Amino acid sequence: MSSVLVLNGPNLNLLGTRQPEVYGSVTLADIEGLCRSHAAQIGLTVETMQSNHEGALIDAIHAARGTHAGLVINAGAYTHTSIAIMDAVASVELPTVEVHLSNIHAREPFRHRSYLASVAIGQIAGFGATSYTLALDALAAHLGVGA
Ligand code: DQA
Repeated sequence: MSSVLVLNGPNLNLLGTRQPEVYGSVTLADIEGLCRSHAAQIGLTVETMQSNHEGALIDAIHAARGTHAGLVINAGAYTHTSIAIMDAVASVELPTVEVHLSNIHAREPFRHRSYLASVAIGQIAGFGATSYTLALDALAAHLGVGA
């Protein structure tokens, strides 16, 4: 069975209490559980990881090579700043879907630029927790799993 790493970046551990008007009341544990159950339905397995540290996220991306068939990444604010995370994704050559709970294109201009977008197979933004299940569906289709 194909395994996917679902990575969450800075401040996403605070989901549930963090700006609920923007991100809703769903917790990171809820999202990770949703990813696990959805993945099982579509023939994927999921490993989850969250870190507030750029280097730890990069280490996890490196370690995914040879272990996982693809990546789902919500890099949080690093989306808009981190050339290092972009380079890590480009380096491991794993199909990667970029995910955001909020519609970053409808928010402040500094959120409109994503470094990750240039190395991802696609981006899903604005659907809350459903962004993650849509990302898993997209990755499964890309990998030809469950087809
Ligand atoms: C986010 C959007 C980012 O701009 C923000 O910095 C986050 C969360 C989202 O999921 O909507 O931390 O990635």
